[in-house]
Amino acid sequence: MNSDYDLLYKQLTSLLEDERHFMPNIANTCALIYGNLSNINWCGFYFVIGGELVLSSFQGKPACMRIPLSKGVCGTAASQNKTMVVDDVHKFSGHIACDCESKSEIVVPIRYNNKVIGVFDVDSPIYNRFTNNEKIFFEKICKYLETSCDFDNIK
Ligand code: SME
Repeated sequence: MNSDYDLLYKQLTSLLEDERHFMPNIANTCALIYGNLSNINWCGFYFVIGGELVLSSFQGKPACMRIPLSKGVCGTAASQNKTMVVDDVHKFSGHIACDCESKSEIVVPIRYNNKVIGVFDVDSPIYNRFTNNEKIFFEKICKYLETSCDFDNIK
């Protein structure tokens, strides 16, 4: 990770270190990312509830509230259990446009007790916003949340 991301990661972990409930932790994760990264127009979490992704904490414009696991970049990341980096959302067949400003996107699965329980989604108003640096950074954040939060009560 570059040094800016190292610093932001340290800020995040010190902000969250005394709290185990997932709700305040994911809310503050969104606020910290949205407030500190350039060229980001949306970031937020969806959780798997009743077999589909349901919108949770986010920063940015109002977004679609439910996404089937078979649809969109988010559904693909969750169902394939892998990080999706999309350089140009218009070229991703099945992309769900919540904000027409969005041009590139990264979605990282959140795993708990050996299964995907949700995703962290970040959108950008420019193409090719998310490089390997960002992939490493967002995956590290999700790994921290997976190990430091109690996600047992999502329904
Ligand atoms: N673009 C996403 C939908 C969620 S919004 O970007 C907030 C997708 O294709 O799954």
